Amino acid sequence: MSTFSSPAVIPAQVFAGRRSAICEALEGGVMVLPAAPVRFRSRDTEYRYRPDSELYYACGAIEPGTVAVISGGAEPSFVLFVRERDPDAELWAGPRLGPEAAGELFGADAAFPIGDLARRLPALLHAGDRVHYRLGREGELPRLVQAALEEARVRGHRKGSGPRAVVDPGEILDPLRLHKDEFELERVRQACAVTVAGQRAGIAAVAPGVGEWVIEAEVEAEFRRAGAAGSGFETIAASGPNGCVLHYVDNSRIVRDGDLVLVDAGAEFGLYNGDVTRTVPASGSFTPEQRAVYEVVEAARVSAIAAVKPDVPVSDVHEAAVSTIVDGLLGLGLLTQDVQDARSPSVYREFFPHQTTHWLGLDVHDPGDYARAGSPRALQPGMVLTVEPGVYLRVGSKVPAAFQGMGIRIEDDIVVTEDGHENLTGSLPTSIEDVEHLVSEGG
Ligand code: GLY
Ligand code: MN
Ligand code: MN
Repeated sequence: MSTFSSPAVIPAQVFAGRRSAICEALEGGVMVLPAAPVRFRSRDTEYRYRPDSELYYACGAIEPGTVAVISGGAEPSFVLFVRERDPDAELWAGPRLGPEAAGELFGADAAFPIGDLARRLPALLHAGDRVHYRLGREGELPRLVQAALEEARVRGHRKGSGPRAVVDPGEILDPLRLHKDEFELERVRQACAVTVAGQRAGIAAVAPGVGEWVIEAEVEAEFRRAGAAGSGFETIAASGPNGCVLHYVDNSRIVRDGDLVLVDAGAEFGLYNGDVTRTVPASGSFTPEQRAVYEVVEAARVSAIAAVKPDVPVSDVHEAAVSTIVDGLLGLGLLTQDVQDARSPSVYREFFPHQTTHWLGLDVHDPGDYARAGSPRALQPGMVLTVEPGVYLRVGSKVPAAFQGMGIRIEDDIVVTEDGHENLTGSLPTSIEDVEHLVSEGG
């Protein structure tokens, strides 16, 4: 892959279509979407900027200091506030669009300098009957929204109009974001392809005596080489007992002969994410105990992916993984209860303590309810989810010594299609023979 993943390449009609859907769902409401804050590490050194997913989804804007105000109702509108041009600031941090160019690029009905927000926000909010805004945002905006709401409320007493409720924007955006359009699916495909390439590079580095950090470095170097912005989350390169720490990110241990190495990594490409895990034997071959547990997790991955199809409750995916893992661990004598007891979360969670799936997209853990009012959500074409069963046999747990310190997770990224599913990361092998081959052949 040779292109860089700039999210700034904007098919205007895609965002216009999304905004129509948002405006329709808003009915008489007004949505206020701010940019993500600029983040610092160690005093005054900036992290690379990561745009806010909701703002980008709604209109494509990726500059800090932006606020979008989207109104539904009889006269839907999209008003943008952005930073003004500033040659001094642009010298340090790069070019800004400024209101005029931003308004044109993003198809806004009006665009103003961000400094005008305090003055203009009350009237914009007053035009709606609800404000869709996330409480607890950072910076100046909470104060401005609160003041604007207060002003709108006072004005509203005279006319009987104005906003009367604050609603989380996710109520509208999350269900829309669950269904990926073609443009999004293409980005997810690219993110998955880069993620697979990074995983191959990381696995190629696995060997006894290698630092976990070297595996991380190989994964992330390949991400960047392939044009990704970097990792969507901290890479997990966990050898031996570290594989049992679900979000292990220190990557500071030296791999030992006989270890399993769990690599969980994902590239962010054009703001969309991949998220893939493979677990490989450091020496190039599994011990009999590792092989036995790996086969259970691999069978769970296969059965959970097989459950992914339209109209199936998303909870079926987890249940498929649970029943395969419970049966497998009973078969190995690692669970000793009767089968009904072993299927109870309070029992199997000792060895399989996380969910099997999460939504994937602009965010690694993409938003969207998995259930509502007690009913699980049904899968529909265009939804993208991970399938990631795992078994973790911690040191000190009640399993024979040869099984202790073993963490095995296998994770793929799956899109629901009209007649089933497609595994977007299935080109990265999972079978025992292929995985052993990957390590001994160096990727
Ligand atoms: N890497 C985080 C996850 O798999 O959910
Ligand atoms: Mn993962
Ligand atoms: Mn995941």
